[in-house]
Amino acid sequence: MTKPYVYLTRKMPASIVEKLEAECDIGMWEKEEEPVPEEVLEKEMQTADALFCTITDPINKEKIKQAENLKIIATMAVGFNNIDVEAAAKKNIQVAHTPGVLSETTADLTFALIMAAARRIPEGIEVIKNNEWGAWAPFFLTGQDIHHARLGIIGMGRIGEAVAKRGTGFDMDIVYHNRSRKPETEKEIGARYVELDELLETSDFVCVMTPYTNETHHMMNREAFQKMKNTAIFINSSRGGTVDEEALFEALKNGDIRGAGLDVFENEPISADHPLLSLPNVTALPHIGSASENTRWNMAEMTANHILQGLRGEKPDHLVSL
Ligand code: DGY
Repeated sequence: MTKPYVYLTRKMPASIVEKLEAECDIGMWEKEEEPVPEEVLEKEMQTADALFCTITDPINKEKIKQAENLKIIATMAVGFNNIDVEAAAKKNIQVAHTPGVLSETTADLTFALIMAAARRIPEGIEVIKNNEWGAWAPFFLTGQDIHHARLGIIGMGRIGEAVAKRGTGFDMDIVYHNRSRKPETEKEIGARYVELDELLETSDFVCVMTPYTNETHHMMNREAFQKMKNTAIFINSSRGGTVDEEALFEALKNGDIRGAGLDVFENEPISADHPLLSLPNVTALPHIGSASENTRWNMAEMTANHILQGLRGEKPDHLVSL
């Protein structure tokens, strides 16, 4: 009997490949740090029974339309804005992702951004590296306090909750805005639900943790940044498309807000000449929110399991919901 064919859009470690090979024939893009070219992806999707993909693969309507045999698309990510889930559903193609497993790790990184941006850690590192560390000075590299400050979380999903929990350890006053209220989280963490305007106007740290959708596209625009306190710090570790980067640049440059910590950008990867990088009050990272060794292994295992479940006709553990 012929085995189903799985295409992996990135080079995966041997144990993940072997796990799939026990039940499937495998095709794989052999580079780890370079996304599969679109024409290769398109061609592979025409014949594959299952697709193991990542956030950099545009799985659009056109490609899905041409997929003759595809039963499951499993992405090694929690975010699935790169996949046309509705087009997949129309063809009865399942779409699975990796929620939960990366929440704590991503919250760790989000908190690292809060701390780095608030306490101007990248600027301090540069000062030493550039041999610019003079005598101790009373107001040298003074930043913002994190303890007892107000942490505003936009999008109280699993990652938002994990960030909020970390905030309690710093005695922060936690407010959130979400499509629906989270009574359990309010009780457990002591977070308070507020309207978006109140969150923007009163928070010392504004963290965007919401998925990227048509509704959240550029939700952080000029108007939103102007509502923020001029001592506030903006943090984004969700998706770059939630932010109008030109408006953020203006807000930082004009002193409408104090600083920003960004793990994500609208068009990734960005290069060194990106305008935001010219500002000293921007802490920028290359989309590494979930990048701990353990978590990335867990995400890869989970994705392989989803593929096998889908091909066996079982319900994958984590299907995306429309
Ligand atoms: C995700 O999972 O959506 C992250 O952005 C990549 O780990």
